[in-house]
Amino acid sequence: MDVADMKSKTVVITGGNSGIGLETAVALAGAGAEVVITARDHGRGEAAVADIAQRSENDRVSMVIFDLASLASVRAGAEDILERSPRIDVLVNNAGLILSERTETVDRFESTFAINHLGPFLLTELLLDRLKASAPSRVVNVASTAHTSARKGLNFDDLQSTKGYGGVKVYGASKLANILFTTDLARRLAGTGVTANCLHPGVVATKYGRDGDTKGVVAFGLKLIKPFCLTPAQGARTSVYLASSPDVAAVTGKYFVKSRPKDPSAAAQDAGAACRLFEVSEELVEASRGRG
Ligand SMILES: NC(=O)c1ccc[n+]([C@@H]2O[C@H](COP(=O)([O-])OP(=O)(O)OC[C@H]3O[C@@H](n4cnc5c(N)ncnc54)[C@H](OP(=O)(O)O)[C@@H]3O)[C@@H](O)[C@H]2O)c1
Repeated sequence: MDVADMKSKTVVITGGNSGIGLETAVALAGAGAEVVITARDHGRGEAAVADIAQRSENDRVSMVIFDLASLASVRAGAEDILERSPRIDVLVNNAGLILSERTETVDRFESTFAINHLGPFLLTELLLDRLKASAPSRVVNVASTAHTSARKGLNFDDLQSTKGYGGVKVYGASKLANILFTTDLARRLAGTGVTANCLHPGVVATKYGRDGDTKGVVAFGLKLIKPFCLTPAQGARTSVYLASSPDVAAVTGKYFVKSRPKDPSAAAQDAGAACRLFEVSEELVEASRGRG
């Protein structure tokens, strides 16, 4: 894939040590960008930095450690990113997962909602002034077509899924949250020169849905379809497009599939829900201070 020149750009990619995030990093570093990946494990992060630098022939690659399951860790990681990056041209909120059983993070939030939505929400908020100062700049959120499973929208009465937890259902709702967050962020950023878009990467053969995270039926189903999936490099294409293409420099608040804008579900186009999610998320991250 042809990628626009990114030589003067700095890109931050969460979950850049694996799958779609790793290949997004290789492609953007290959186009000349300085790339900062986040990882939650030091060894996996170091190995990815070496791999990205070697395959892209660009040694301006580094790593910041943080775990999206701890908002204190996200705050520390954001500080680290701000210290080392005088400019941030693109933030790719890529990290995410699906969990078959309900667990809670150190902040006492349901883990899928916290890792897939609240952590990226807080990270974006903490990096926003630097993104604005670097404008024109971009936020790219990796959502999923799985958002369509949350047909009735987010259940604001039970965002922590305390009743009737189902891994696929909760994952779908977290990906709906990614789209709602994107559209409300784009609305709030109007006139700042910072765009926000989101995407479905396709069905991609990655570590996503590994046995330890999704026991039983989901893990088995994912193994069955693996031969028909996109490679991680193919799955990274829409992220890379939104992060780099001049075609979308002025496009904001949209959902993309195969590098083309597409209408997400009706629930994902609910502007009231998007605004409400933003406000609730602000309250939740604020309430987490001093907990984790
Ligand atoms: N694969 C698909 O078919 C597909 C389809 C639609 C959407 N997506 C989305 O694509 C994104 C990337 O997934 P992938 O398929 O590339 O899966 P992956 O290979 O499992 O990569 C996920 C990345 O997220 C990181 N991560 C998970 N939990 C984290 C936490 N608590 N804190 C920080 N980082 C964490 C992982 O770190 P570790 O390596 O340490 O686990 C890894 O770097 C996700 O948002 C996923 O929802 C994937």
